[in-house]
Amino acid sequence: MASYKGKSSEEKNGEPGKGCQNPDVLTSASGVPTGDKLNVMTAGQLGPLLIEDVVYQEEMAHFSRERIPERVVHAKGAGAFGYFEVTHDITRYCKAKVFEYVGKKTPIAVRFSTASGEAGSADTVRDPRGFGVKFYTEEGNWDLAGNNAPVFFIRDPIMFPSLSHAQKRNPQTHRKDPNLLWDFFSLRPETLFEVTHVFSDHGIPNGYRHIDGFGVHAFKLVNAKGEAVYCKFHYKSDQGIKNLLSDEAAKLVASNPDYGIQDLFDAIAKGDFPSWSLSIQVMTFKEAEDYKFNPFDSTKIWSEKDYPLIPVGKLVLNRNPINYFAEVEQLAFEPKNMPPGIEASPDKMLQGRLFAYSDALRYRLGTNYQQLPINWPQKTHVANYQRDGAMCLFDNQGNAPNYYPNSFCGPESQRQALEHRYKVSGDVARYNTADEDNVTQVREYYLKEMNEEERQRLCQNIANSLQHAQLFIQKRAVKNFTDVHPDYGARVQALLTQLNAKKGS
Ligand code: HEM
Repeated sequence: MASYKGKSSEEKNGEPGKGCQNPDVLTSASGVPTGDKLNVMTAGQLGPLLIEDVVYQEEMAHFSRERIPERVVHAKGAGAFGYFEVTHDITRYCKAKVFEYVGKKTPIAVRFSTASGEAGSADTVRDPRGFGVKFYTEEGNWDLAGNNAPVFFIRDPIMFPSLSHAQKRNPQTHRKDPNLLWDFFSLRPETLFEVTHVFSDHGIPNGYRHIDGFGVHAFKLVNAKGEAVYCKFHYKSDQGIKNLLSDEAAKLVASNPDYGIQDLFDAIAKGDFPSWSLSIQVMTFKEAEDYKFNPFDSTKIWSEKDYPLIPVGKLVLNRNPINYFAEVEQLAFEPKNMPPGIEASPDKMLQGRLFAYSDALRYRLGTNYQQLPINWPQKTHVANYQRDGAMCLFDNQGNAPNYYPNSFCGPESQRQALEHRYKVSGDVARYNTADEDNVTQVREYYLKEMNEEERQRLCQNIANSLQHAQLFIQKRAVKNFTDVHPDYGARVQALLTQLNAKKGS
């Protein structure tokens, strides 16, 4: 039974169903006691209503404003809280205090999500899963909003709205439309790696406890001497990977659309706390210059043979939300939130995300979204020159100066927080990235990471979806799969031919 203000109704009542012996005083939102919450005020027994019924007015007006805009992507999700503990020393790479010493614990908030469905959509759909972690460090919040796939669909952020539109609803029919999806995917072969991941067995994880997480992008780590390396972040599920087959997942869509949220909540509620092991891959600047492909391409992985995983720590989730709306719906991830020692690499997608999330949050939650308790940097305090705005909470920084520089002891910048200095060169232009080897890593994944049954299921899953797109789109998609490997293209085509024939008969 859920509890309100920490007290369950059983505790208040004594016995459930027997009527409450000791209820709180019912009040308006301003704390004024309410006399009657069951009957509107009317002139005479049969109505009409009176404008002086402020109890009704407040109740209705608040109800009409209960919904805020849902996240434009990753709208359906589950959240939980816990801690991150350092298990291995990486201070030779990174000065961020979150990694300061082995055994150090930092509170975290985590939100898992599906990517393209709405807030009320089902959990067991074929879709990437979001894996966002907020670390409340004493140097401010670090937000690592990753996915359960090691790569992303695109490598240029300008295409993100189109990628998202293609996965969402047709603006006329308001239905999900395989024509949009496969038109976009087939026109942009850099999507092939994540498409292959999403249509593989990994496309429908069995809840959120059994997925790995990836930061996907290259980041930069800087140590106390100011030396920098590039890195990628990986979370490995200590529960192991578990996926659902398409048929099982479809049944759950009908019987328990909140399967993922429930699985996480129930496990934590019974003390079976899920955990993940965090590790990093590290690449020097010199290696990055000479690497066989652009190491900042978010559609590619860094080989773990060349860049082995270096263990760092453990994430443990041991608390469920008490108030889903306040703690999960209002939870805000911003890839720009990185403490000194962790920085962005030149990855264009990551650079594009540095702006996009904060902008979305100003719209979704309002100007002062960082002041909401769940987003507030609980391990430090905020001192800056920003003031006011809608829903300004706390003391608005009291009588501290609100301009800079000033002669009144306002907050000062810290040299040790200066960003790592690096060189850039090149002509300013819009560079076409479409043809940066879209197939080699997909081929390796198809041939080496999958067994025969997995390849067959992958091709069947693709054909089941692709059959609903127009023929010219089907052909273009099959050509891309053939470019990855002739067997991949041939299998998808053979299955499509059967399915198309069935539709025609
Ligand atoms: C240019 C590329 C991208 C853009 C513009 C973008 C934009 C967005 C936006 C606007 C949101 C909603 C934010 C909110 O209202 O709270 C979001 C959510 C999210 N995105 Fe992205 N995204 C991009 C790429 C990625 C990539 C590459 C990943 C994974 C590595 C990712 C993971 C997530 C996750 C996990 C969430 C949900 C966060 C939460 O639980 O609140 N996104 N994205």
